[in-house]
Amino acid sequence: MGAMNAPLEAPVRLHQSTASAEAPAVKANEASARLARSNLKQQARELLAQHDAVLVAHYYVDGELQDLALETGGCVADSLEMARFGRDHAARTLVVAGVRFMGETAKILSPEKRVLMPDLEATCSLDIGCPADAFARFCDQHPDRTVVVYANTSAAVKARADWMVTSSCALPIVAHLKERGEKVLWAPDRHLGSYVLQQTGADMLLWDATCVVHDEFKGIELELLRREHPRAKVLVHPESPAGVIEQADLVGSTTQLLRAVAQMDADEFIVATDAGLFHRMRQIAPGKTLIEAPTAGTSATCKACAHCPWMAMNSVEKLVHCLSGGTAPIELDADVIRDARTCIERMLEFVAQHPGATVAPASGFVPHLGAA
Ligand code: 13P
Ligand code: SF4
Repeated sequence: MGAMNAPLEAPVRLHQSTASAEAPAVKANEASARLARSNLKQQARELLAQHDAVLVAHYYVDGELQDLALETGGCVADSLEMARFGRDHAARTLVVAGVRFMGETAKILSPEKRVLMPDLEATCSLDIGCPADAFARFCDQHPDRTVVVYANTSAAVKARADWMVTSSCALPIVAHLKERGEKVLWAPDRHLGSYVLQQTGADMLLWDATCVVHDEFKGIELELLRREHPRAKVLVHPESPAGVIEQADLVGSTTQLLRAVAQMDADEFIVATDAGLFHRMRQIAPGKTLIEAPTAGTSATCKACAHCPWMAMNSVEKLVHCLSGGTAPIELDADVIRDARTCIERMLEFVAQHPGATVAPASGFVPHLGAA
C-alpha cells in the first residue's frame, strides 16, 4: 500500500508547492498588465486632447472604447446619433470607432474635419453586399422609384440615393414616402426592407443582402427560449430575420433597444442584436437580466457568436495608433461628398422636423401600421 501511495502523493505536493510559489508572480503579472492598460488609455486621452479630437463610438465596439468615448466627452450611440453628434461637434478631428460607412458618413457631413478610424478595413456585410456599379444598374432599371438606402452602404451608393435611413427612422420615412404616393427601391438589407414593407404597406422593391450577425438569429430556437423565460421581454434589431422580428415585444435601433431595457416594466430581456450592446445595457440597467437571443440550438456543434467581426477590429491600441499618425484620414472625392450628402441631409432634416419619429413604438410588431 505504501508503494502505491507514494506516486499519488507526489503530484499533490508538487501542485501545492507550485501554486503557492506562482501566486505572487501571477498577481504581479496581472498588476503590471493593468498598469500597462491604464497607461495606454491615458495615452489615448492625451492624444485626443492634443489633436482636438473627439471619439464617436458605436455600441458594438469594445467596452473599453465605449467607456473612453464617454469619459472624454465623446459619444456612444447608434448610427443616426453618431452622424448627428459628429456633424454638430466643434472638434477639428472626429475619431469614429465603428465601421467604414460610419466614418464616411461623418466625412460627408463634415468635409472640413479630419476623420480618423482605428481600423479603415472595418467594413460591413451589407456594404460589401451592395457594390456601387451593380446598384447603379438596378436603379437605372427602375427610374420611377424613389431610392432609399440604409446607412450601411458606401458613399458611392449613397451618392445615387434620394434618401438615406437608419434603423431608427426607416419606418417613418418610408411611411411618409408612401403617403406621398412614391414607390420605393430599397437597399441593401432585405430583412429590414421586408419589415418596413410589412409595417408600412409601401410598394418596395428590395435589394438582397443581409447582416452576418443578425441573420444568424433563429426564430424556432427563440420560441423555445421564450418558453423557458415566459416573463422575458424580447427586444429585436430589425436586421434580424422575419421569424425573429415576429416574436419581438419591441423592434428598434440599438439606442431604442437600450432605452427599452432601462424603461420597460420587466426584469428579464431576451436581446437579438450584437453582443457589444450588452456592455452599455448592463451599465444603464444593472439590476436587469439580459439573455442573448439564440443563434443556434443547444445541440448545435457550431454556434455564431453574435458579434460583428468588423466592429471587433476596433481597439484602444488602434485608437492610439491612428491618433499617432499611423492611419490615413478618410478621403472622399468632392463630387461623391456633394452627391451623397443630399440623401443624408434629407434624413436629418426629416428627423429634426419629426422629433417623435425616432422613438421606438411602445410595443413591437404591428403588421401594416401605415397601410390604413
Ligand atoms: P444602428 O443604427 O441601430 O446602430 O445599427 C447599425 C448597425 O450596423 C447594426 O448592425
Ligand atoms: Fe454591418 Fe452587421 Fe456589423 Fe452592423 S453588425 S456593421 S450591419 S455586419
